[in-house]
Amino acid sequence: MRTVKVPLGERSYSIVIGRRVADRLGRACVKLGFAPRCAVITDSQVGPRHSPRVLESLRRAGFDPILLTIPAGEPSKNLGQVEALYLALAQHQLERRSFVVALGGGVVGDVAGFVAGTYLRGIGLVQLPTTLLAQVDSSVGGKTGVNLPAGKNLVGVFHQPRLVLCDLATLDTLPEREFRAGVAEVIKYGIIRDAAFFTQIETDLERLLGREEAALGAFVARSCEIKAEVVARDETESGLRAILNFGHTIGHALEAISNYEQYLHGEAIAIGQVAAARLSARLAGLPEADVERIRTLFDRAGLPTEVRLAPEQKKKLLKAMQLDKKASGGRVKFVLAEAIGRVRWGVPVPEKAVLEALAA
Ligand SMILES: NC(=O)c1ccc[n+]([C@@H]2O[C@H](COP(=O)([O-])OP(=O)(O)OC[C@H]3O[C@@H](n4cnc5c(N)ncnc54)[C@H](O)[C@@H]3O)[C@@H](O)[C@H]2O)c1
Ligand SMILES: [Zn+2]
Repeated sequence: MRTVKVPLGERSYSIVIGRRVADRLGRACVKLGFAPRCAVITDSQVGPRHSPRVLESLRRAGFDPILLTIPAGEPSKNLGQVEALYLALAQHQLERRSFVVALGGGVVGDVAGFVAGTYLRGIGLVQLPTTLLAQVDSSVGGKTGVNLPAGKNLVGVFHQPRLVLCDLATLDTLPEREFRAGVAEVIKYGIIRDAAFFTQIETDLERLLGREEAALGAFVARSCEIKAEVVARDETESGLRAILNFGHTIGHALEAISNYEQYLHGEAIAIGQVAAARLSARLAGLPEADVERIRTLFDRAGLPTEVRLAPEQKKKLLKAMQLDKKASGGRVKFVLAEAIGRVRWGVPVPEKAVLEALAA
């Protein structure tokens, strides 16, 4: 078992990583001083598999949990779902010292986090992420929110969890494609912050893909450490936190123009990161050999690295990039790597260069 601290003053919390750490939930919540009434929010895929242990741990520690299940998938990230959850919390009489447990992937984490961040102006939140992506990324850092018909993640609040439990055993049931998508975020941490970590992924990739416990624990923990360090320095994204978006400007645009159907998020940002690496070689001094190392690693992880777009699609992609909320003042700004392990952010990039970088 490993513990990573997220140092945010009085809102500091721990991320606990290991097999079966979910069994500690009840006792940990006693220590956090929560009131007995609570809610476990999950989805229709995760609930049947993993909620019994979670509910049992809470009950054994004297809590009175209600289980609330939303349909699995991105369409559940909407305000209608949020309202239905508020009503259920009110019916179960949750109060100021009550808490919500988010048991699921990033969708459940974002919805349950938003509900916890706004119900009674904010009640306690414990994240129990069950996808690799959620364990290394979305459960840490306090961003929560839902989609509007006009776009993704347009409504939200910052609401830090009081605790994150990354139970590696929950990943046993995660479909292969979802697991590989999470690996794209793990590789991202190496590129943006830690060259030695990148090398370690190159060496141990097969052990990670085989979900070997020791490798998995080490990779999840180092990813969380890097995210925690970046978030602690820039909680609300006024600067440094932007580096977490390496590969995401193009990735988000690819997701948008394919109506969020063709690519998983991790797949879209794999293409985005390879393109960002090529742009980095042109504009930020990243050696060509390192572009190839990056491309090879995503390829070995079974992730896409290129996309061929028809002219009409190219236009749509550029427009989607402009709309991405990271573009301010109309100019699209990129995170680019100077070397593996070191990036700069806010770099303006000409549109032509973006299109050239998508398929080399
Ligand atoms: N808040 C943040 O900082 C942040 C960061 C990154 C992504 N996100 C958000 O996260 C979401 C994507 O998260 P995701 O990739 O985890 O997707 P997800 O939550 O939709 O989970 C993917 C699929 O796997 C299923 N699943 C989850 N855990 C499982 C398990 N252990 N066993 C079997 N099936 C399981 C889910 O039911 C779902 O069908 C997006 O909405 C994105 O916007 C948020
Ligand atoms: Zn991402």
